[in-house]
Amino acid sequence: MSIGFQLQARDGAARRGVVETAHGRVDTPAFMPVGTAATVKAMRPQDVAATGAQMVLGNTYHLMLRPGAETVAELGGLHRFMAWPGPILTDSGGYQVMSLAKLRKIDERGVRFRSHIDGSKHELTPEGAVEIQDLLDADIAMQLDECPAAGRPRDEVADSMQLSLRWAERCRAAFRERAGYGLFAIVQGGMHDDLRRESAHALTGMDFPGYAVGGLAVGEGQAEMFRVLDVTVPELPEAKPRYLMGVGRPLDIVGAVERGIDLFDCVLPTRSGRTAQAFTHGGAVNIRNARHRRDPRPLDPACGCGVCSTFSRAYLHHLIRAGEMLGPMLLTEHNVFFYQTLMHRLRDAIAAGALADEAARIRAEQAAGDI
Ligand code: GUN
Ligand code: ZN
Repeated sequence: MSIGFQLQARDGAARRGVVETAHGRVDTPAFMPVGTAATVKAMRPQDVAATGAQMVLGNTYHLMLRPGAETVAELGGLHRFMAWPGPILTDSGGYQVMSLAKLRKIDERGVRFRSHIDGSKHELTPEGAVEIQDLLDADIAMQLDECPAAGRPRDEVADSMQLSLRWAERCRAAFRERAGYGLFAIVQGGMHDDLRRESAHALTGMDFPGYAVGGLAVGEGQAEMFRVLDVTVPELPEAKPRYLMGVGRPLDIVGAVERGIDLFDCVLPTRSGRTAQAFTHGGAVNIRNARHRRDPRPLDPACGCGVCSTFSRAYLHHLIRAGEMLGPMLLTEHNVFFYQTLMHRLRDAIAAGALADEAARIRAEQAAGDI
């Protein structure tokens, strides 16, 4: 029943493992490219797989509005619809409602909102979010939660965390258990250690097959995020995968892996690819910068991707300056490959008991950035 998780190696608090789902296995620590609207933007699914990515993330909020969860179900589920045969994790929608929808209203029942696309009225309840993720055929579904906005007073954060706990229980009761599929809980509690511990402790008692840490990377800064992980992660069960939602930059991921996180997702590699920002082994590069105009070198000489083995910085610079579609496509492919290379290095280092040295190397590389 549910999804599997095997721990293969440890190095300090860091873990190397394998998540087993109905649509295949995921080596952890893993990074999931974001495929919000049933596409990892600007990439074909086979090219996403060729970067080494094993699982992608989809969004309940976007897909329920367009094309609709029933439509996706009729067409054989999200794997068939988007031609991604591997594992898919879907976020539950609450977080996206708060950032994208209009006229949102949250109460015990759930969240009512108007679509950012056409203004139509919708409701997401814990039961509804689970049902939609079931229709999408997500291997890993997320509980409906509320992520309080940064800077809210403590009593509001506490009430919000308690609401997310009650929604976790309702999601769990609504979830249809079957082999290879699982529902993850989401720890909330803002930047308050005691609320984080209380949330993690209560969710652990409900026995989910995996636990996410939500409510981070909301502007608190890296040091504060790491501090919250330091108090939260030790409260989570060793034998279950841990997912840090919406994180992050390469060095955020390195620090979170050192603190025992197994799964990540972030729009950064894909979104940056569309704004001419590249991640490289020499730090961040803005390919739009005039200094690349006559540069015959690859984007990242230390990268093994098909973009870096084929095209010059001068050509990528030209594509971006000319507004050609191929520019964002090639930068996205490189960036997703870079993130997968990063995860590969972290997994190998954990297996070899050499994470501290590898992390130091990655920090030194990233310190060399030009933007
Ligand atoms: N993505 C980034 N942060 C969060 C969060 O706190 N909750 C959910 N559901 N998704 C997220
Ligand atoms: Zn590359």
